[in-house]
Amino acid sequence: MSQLEHHGTYTPNTGIEKWIDARMPLPRLMYDSFVAYPVPRNLNYAYTFGGILSLMLVAQILTGVVLAMHYAASTGLAFSSVEHIMRDVNSGWLIRYMHANGASFFFIAVYLHIFRGMYYGSYKAPRELLWILGCIIYLLMMATGFMGYVLPWGQMSFWGATVITGFFTAFPVVGEPIQQLLLGGFAVDNPTLNRFFSLHYLLPFMIAGVVVLHVWALHVTGQTNPTGIEVKSKTDTVAFTPYATIKDAFAMMVFFVVFAYFVFYMPNFLGHPDNYIEANPLVTPAHIVPEWYYLPFYAILRAITFDIGPIDSKLGGVLAMFGSIAVLFVMPWLDTSKVRSAVYRPWYKLFFWIFVANAILLGWLGSKPAEGVYTTLAQIATAYYFGFFIIILPLLGLIETPRRLPNSITEAVLERNRASASSEAKD
Ligand code: HEM
Repeated sequence: MSQLEHHGTYTPNTGIEKWIDARMPLPRLMYDSFVAYPVPRNLNYAYTFGGILSLMLVAQILTGVVLAMHYAASTGLAFSSVEHIMRDVNSGWLIRYMHANGASFFFIAVYLHIFRGMYYGSYKAPRELLWILGCIIYLLMMATGFMGYVLPWGQMSFWGATVITGFFTAFPVVGEPIQQLLLGGFAVDNPTLNRFFSLHYLLPFMIAGVVVLHVWALHVTGQTNPTGIEVKSKTDTVAFTPYATIKDAFAMMVFFVVFAYFVFYMPNFLGHPDNYIEANPLVTPAHIVPEWYYLPFYAILRAITFDIGPIDSKLGGVLAMFGSIAVLFVMPWLDTSKVRSAVYRPWYKLFFWIFVANAILLGWLGSKPAEGVYTTLAQIATAYYFGFFIIILPLLGLIETPRRLPNSITEAVLERNRASASSEAKD
């Protein structure tokens, strides 16, 4: 039996269906991918974030296209064109708040999606390419979010762009030319705004393209599941529709309710008040802070306050920041454990949850001034971040004794059902 045996085959019934199927079998592809496609029968809600992300990507593109109809990408007009959207355009406030908060919720979903992947060992063979495509999407998301934040041309837009493009000058020789290429000049100005607008419009479509590859790779290997055991027979799976579609749809609705709460009741909670002040190159804000979703990386950047041999602290910080993302790409090869899921790896589970807490701590430290105890804590947290990947992951696979694995997904599900039935009987 093939590992991924589908639940049914597409049969065109009407004349038009048959006509299309003989020429371009798109309905067949959709049926095979999203109806009859087999998914493990034990997927939990942690597996719904991929669907949520797809929905958020569509929502961001739709709201973004409408915003672009009213936005003016010029330093003299950008700030007031955003105010015009908020005040004069029909439902403009809603579209803008959906887009701005949508970016944050996109990142919430992607972080939960990544943590899920780390917890259940989704990155391990044979899903390395699927994972790497995800890392590329994440990088593209970071670039898109950064450029989008510059567009309203507020104080944080301007100074954030100044600080972040300034990172590149840390690299010898190539640094300054790269910075000038990004800026379109020697400082953040009209050419910068124009190219950021152009790229901010382009990148989401590139993300959509990589998502197609991501889902393609997923459909070749099939999904993992909380046990981490591969599908062995058809009884280990259920049809994508209705089972996964209904579960995904329910999760999307819950996610959208929380999203709507932010949009309608606290639309500026995740933003920075300084961005309601128009960009002024002559007035530097007291604290330049990036959006919350970059804060852990900002903390890592500022944690390197010392020179490392020939590498000065500025370059060291930038390398650590880029390195903290680069290390994700090689995660599949750093984890030496034969067991995939954290459910059966007691030590990995512990270190994983410390990793999550550590990432939150880094985020908090990123929002604090880089001085005193904050810097010391950021250095410890940065050491743990890298230590987790470079020391703990490779070592743990060699020394950890995993728990006994069930023989199959079906066995795991039935065992759990039996356990809950007997505890209910006792009650
Ligand atoms: C726009 C962003 C993204 C979209 C739309 C997306 C979409 C999806 C979808 C629909 C799935 C299957 C459902 C699920 O398991 O949740 C999935 C699985 C997966 N994604 Fe993503 N993804 C995105 C970003 C990422 C990122 C940033 C990573 C990692 C760095 C990643 C890694 C994975 C992995 C490893 C799986 C397989 C999970 C498993 O079967 O265990 N994805 N993704």
